[in-house]
Amino acid sequence: MRGSRATVAMGPLPLCFLALLLVSFCRAEMSSKVGINYGQLGNNLPPAHHSVYLIKSHLKASRVKIYDTNPEILGTLKDTGIAVSIMLPNNLITPVSSNQSLADSWVESNVAPFYPATKIRYLLVGNEILSAPVKSVWYNLVPAMRKVKNALKRHGINKVKVGTSMAMDVLESSYPPSNGTFRSDIATRVVKPMLQFLNRTKSFYFLDVYPYFPWSDNPKSINLDYALFESRNITVTDPGTGLVYHNLFDQMVDANIFAMARLGYPDIRVWIAETGWPNGGDYDQIGANIYNAATYNRNVVKKFLAKPTVGTPARPGKVLPSFIFALYNENQKPGPGTERHFGLLYPNGTSIYEIQLDGEVPKLGYKPLPKPTNNEPYKGKIWCVVAKRANGTAVGAAMSYACSQGNKTCDSIQKGKECYRPNSLVRHASYAFSSYWAQFKKLGGSCYFDGLATQTIKDPSYGSCKFPSITL
Ligand SMILES: *[C@@H]1O[C@H](CO)[C@@H](O)[C@H](O)[C@H]1NC(C)=O
Ligand SMILES: *[C@@H]1O[C@H](CO)[C@@H](O)[C@H](O)[C@H]1NC(C)=O
Ligand SMILES: *[C@@H]1O[C@H](CO)[C@@H](O)[C@H](O)[C@H]1NC(C)=O
Ligand SMILES: *[C@@H]1O[C@H](CO)[C@@H](O)[C@H](O)[C@H]1NC(C)=O
Ligand SMILES: *[C@@H]1O[C@H](CO)[C@@H](O)[C@H](O)[C@H]1NC(C)=O
Ligand SMILES: *[C@@H]1O[C@H](CO)[C@@H](O)[C@H](O)[C@H]1NC(C)=O
Ligand SMILES: *[C@@H]1O[C@H](CO)[C@@H](O)[C@H](O)[C@H]1NC(C)=O
Repeated sequence: MRGSRATVAMGPLPLCFLALLLVSFCRAEMSSKVGINYGQLGNNLPPAHHSVYLIKSHLKASRVKIYDTNPEILGTLKDTGIAVSIMLPNNLITPVSSNQSLADSWVESNVAPFYPATKIRYLLVGNEILSAPVKSVWYNLVPAMRKVKNALKRHGINKVKVGTSMAMDVLESSYPPSNGTFRSDIATRVVKPMLQFLNRTKSFYFLDVYPYFPWSDNPKSINLDYALFESRNITVTDPGTGLVYHNLFDQMVDANIFAMARLGYPDIRVWIAETGWPNGGDYDQIGANIYNAATYNRNVVKKFLAKPTVGTPARPGKVLPSFIFALYNENQKPGPGTERHFGLLYPNGTSIYEIQLDGEVPKLGYKPLPKPTNNEPYKGKIWCVVAKRANGTAVGAAMSYACSQGNKTCDSIQKGKECYRPNSLVRHASYAFSSYWAQFKKLGGSCYFDGLATQTIKDPSYGSCKFPSITL
């Protein structure tokens, strides 16, 4: 919504203490702002000072979240007025969970030097750790959160809320939203004590919400407009509660709210730690394009800043503070192509599409966006070949791995066989990648190989050498 911004700053206002009745008013007023996730998994990103300029002056974000405690960034954010969320890295959760003096010294060297000149307000202990496979770390999460909170207190740092970010897979059931239930392997042992901690410290449930993923897994049963906040006439009614949903995002958030209520914590505030939509991706990925990304992000920002506050069907009128993902397209993020295409900006700092996180729309409206070309699955064949500029030594190792998997994966590139000549590493490895992927795609295998492989729709076959391909 145009120009709608909260003017009341974070932190306890004297007014809030006057009457209990005002508490919900003060809480609601304080957080109607949109921030940005500043991820740095790229080898071509602008330096911190230029990034902070882009965040503040170009995107008009009032908050920023980083995935570490990068001293250059924290130093640059000093006296900017931007509220900052920092992160204790996943690999410190276990050591910190059993060692208060380690927590103290971590805070001493990573937080204290910048606080309060840098407006650090949130500290996330790990990133989506409950989605990672190492169970022992899950059980150390809440002890680590407690030790970090104690360490902050000992340093007189009282304005920093401690939390952790959660992905949707912390739920084993999310449909209908009122059926939202935490996974049984974490519900009582991890999530319940965590909610107790969040309640006691008046912190937030930090949630990563990507309607893109359930939609792209299931584009036939979920309407794209419903995922993009564009549906005028599609609604989903929760039979358990009668609540009516107009978009997938609200459904996903409310499933978490009902899951928390099931464990006895119906009131913990939700913070959208990440949300966004990819502006590009691989040939086998649907709906990742600039048109959809601009539509989703503009609509979600409008929702977050709307006056009066919208909330969700389970919590109408409640503020959802948020961070959009992400500042830049990050070329070193692992996984499928979409992972490297969530940015609002290209690595050179120019906008991929027009958007402002204060909700302002240009007076003459937005310029037209490129029409989406991949909202339907790609119809032709796709191959997996060696990426440009890939490191030869590493390609050799990846080829050996691919050849060791599956059935007869590399038979055709053996001496005397149809794909042996010309005997070049790039051709042999491209064959191996295509052959591997053709067998393993349906089993969840990807065409990535640590960035050494890329998808192509140009048939690499030659002569009698036919490269295996996939079709969707
Ligand atoms: C706890 O952390 C402190 C400070 O880093 C370190 O000196 C000490 O060896 C650690 N204790 C244990 C038992 O690991
Ligand atoms: C509710 O969740 C349970 C698992 O927690 C699942 O078995 C059940 O099918 C869900 N109900 C509906 C209506 O989807
Ligand atoms: C919603 O409206 C669109 C455009 O008016 C129409 O094409 C579509 O069929 C409608 N869908 C439903 C479920 O009514
Ligand atoms: C904490 O729990 C108590 C008791 O259930 C509840 O009254 C209160 O609203 C909760 N506070 C937060 C911040 O969730
Ligand atoms: C920035 O990068 C994008 C994508 O590579 C490119 O299209 C654009 O021309 C670049 N802009 C400038 C000013 O270099
Ligand atoms: C190429 O890959 C090998 C093995 O992975 C590695 O040791 C080497 O440093 C890489 N070379 C370059 C230039 O990145
Ligand atoms: C390899 O062949 C075996 C036996 O036919 C089959 O069970 C297995 O699924 C195949 N592996 C792949 C990756 O296709």
